[in-house]
Amino acid sequence: MSLADDVKKRLDIVQVVSEYVDLDTRARTPKARCPFHAENTPSFVVFPESQLWRCFGACATGGDVITFLSRQHKVDFREALRMAATRAGIRDTSPRREERKSSPLIEANEVAQAYLAGVLNSPRGEAARAYLKSRGIVDAAVRRREFGLCPDGLETLAGHLQSKGIQAGVARAAGLVTQTREGAWRDMFVGRLTIAIRDADGRLVGFGARTLSGAEPKYLNSPRSEVFDKSKLLYGLHWARDRVRLTGTVVVVEGYMDVIAAHEREFENVVASMGTAITRDQVEHVKGLAQKVVLALDADAAGQEATLNSLETVWGAYGGASSELGARRQLDIRVARLAGGKDPDEVISQSPDAWRSIVDDAAPLLDWLIDTHVRRNDVSTPAGKARVTEAIFPLVAVLQNTYEQDRYLTALSSKLGVTLEQLRASAGRIRPQRRRGLAVRGNTEASESALTGQADTAIERFLLTMVLSGDDIREYAAELPEEAFSDPGNRAVFTAWQTSGTIGRLRETAPPDLAERIEHLTGNPLPPMDQRARVGAITDSVRRLLELHLKRLKAQEARALEDPAFIEGSPETRTLIEQRSLETNERLKNLYTRQP
Ligand code: UTP
Ligand code: MN
Repeated sequence: MSLADDVKKRLDIVQVVSEYVDLDTRARTPKARCPFHAENTPSFVVFPESQLWRCFGACATGGDVITFLSRQHKVDFREALRMAATRAGIRDTSPRREERKSSPLIEANEVAQAYLAGVLNSPRGEAARAYLKSRGIVDAAVRRREFGLCPDGLETLAGHLQSKGIQAGVARAAGLVTQTREGAWRDMFVGRLTIAIRDADGRLVGFGARTLSGAEPKYLNSPRSEVFDKSKLLYGLHWARDRVRLTGTVVVVEGYMDVIAAHEREFENVVASMGTAITRDQVEHVKGLAQKVVLALDADAAGQEATLNSLETVWGAYGGASSELGARRQLDIRVARLAGGKDPDEVISQSPDAWRSIVDDAAPLLDWLIDTHVRRNDVSTPAGKARVTEAIFPLVAVLQNTYEQDRYLTALSSKLGVTLEQLRASAGRIRPQRRRGLAVRGNTEASESALTGQADTAIERFLLTMVLSGDDIREYAAELPEEAFSDPGNRAVFTAWQTSGTIGRLRETAPPDLAERIEHLTGNPLPPMDQRARVGAITDSVRRLLELHLKRLKAQEARALEDPAFIEGSPETRTLIEQRSLETNERLKNLYTRQP
């Protein structure tokens, strides 16, 4: 007998279905309104004799208890079979498909979930059920969304797991129990309301456990394990997947309860980042399904540095156009603003229409980033303007379309109260790769040269590869001031090389991180060159770097001289800068007149 047959023999379809659907279990062929489509007259029928169900209404589908669970939980057949097997008290021992590895941790979680749901449904769960009810979660939703309750009495989840033959090491790795020094098992989630967390394929990878007593932390989550990594998961994606694929849009909220509220009110394309600002890995997860990602951020999270950082990273990776591969699809990423400190759960419960329009009115991510930086700085001062410009330019640089670039620069200039020309003039001074490790790639000529400083770091790397290619050309670069290197890593290699005398000594004395850089640089291929060409190439690069360095200095000095703080503030400083500026001019002139 196959596992499916075995499971079906042991389960009663009427009982299973009645856990989810309001079914009159005493009728000979129980009927209900179909759980899979909206209808007013019942056309969903369960046949106890054949153990099958069928909807005679709009969806016109049917099947057995396993397909029912599969549709109800939006998991595939295998997963539904595993759920059914757990219910029937059978261990699924069939060979697993290679590509979707199961894990003992997932089995332990399934066993745990069956138990936790049972406790919630028992008299011990009364207070917890009342709590859920007070939050607008109806009984069917309690089961559908796989809530549970971890008991706090003598009977424990640990004891149950043990009785089901789950090994201590597995239960511990799954984060369900801890072991005391004496070797006794203790529940992790004692007294907490649990929420099952499934991955996109419906595998039960972990739990979030909410306090019911106000204890800290509000949620205890499963620890990181081979199956659970919060930064890579999106809660609710297995429910949302079909809808997201169909509409091309995914809405990302922060909390479990937000996702549940949304799905219960038929906003079925909502998933949660589980408290952290959305990560690249999470975006990667939905990229194949959606073209549009709407981030619904809690008002208080929105202004935080961590949120800003990760959204900038996401923008750097997906907001611009093509990538290193050339044809990666660009994502339309938007930010929905939740006013008045409400979270999505509250908005959705109070007014589904309000939620709909908040999502529809979401602003493009880059507009939101611009606004946020403008709000965080005092843009009436030159320093504030400079900070905002410095933050925003790299983000504009990833756009391939110059008209789009223009649109954002125009918006920025009006918010800063400067002209587009002034804004552009400051572009050359900004080095995006020095900001927060943002993965920014200039793709077009325009963004390479006008918006980013990537061209000069390319020269820096070339020059370093050259000086590391042989001590014979050392003299042509040794005099270059280290400040000519704008990239700190490149500068570190250069000064180490300058002070070590020979390449051999440099290699002997370099600390590991520097050694790695050096290896990397020497791995860069150089075109075949004779001695004259080598000298020519190295002197050219030295000149070019010096020139760029002096131009940067000049621009900095000019900016300082325009700064009202200097003009009104300190006459001494001003004189000093004026003097320096004259020197810089002189050095530049020398550079130009000196013969190569
Ligand atoms: P929220 O505090 O907004 O949670 O945190 P929530 O889901 O809306 O819960 P309710 O409405 O208070 O019951 C958002 C998410 O951050 C994670 C959880 O994933 C939570 O859903 N979080 C929050 C934790 O992991 N641990 C915490 O202590 C708090
Ligand atoms: Mn909430």
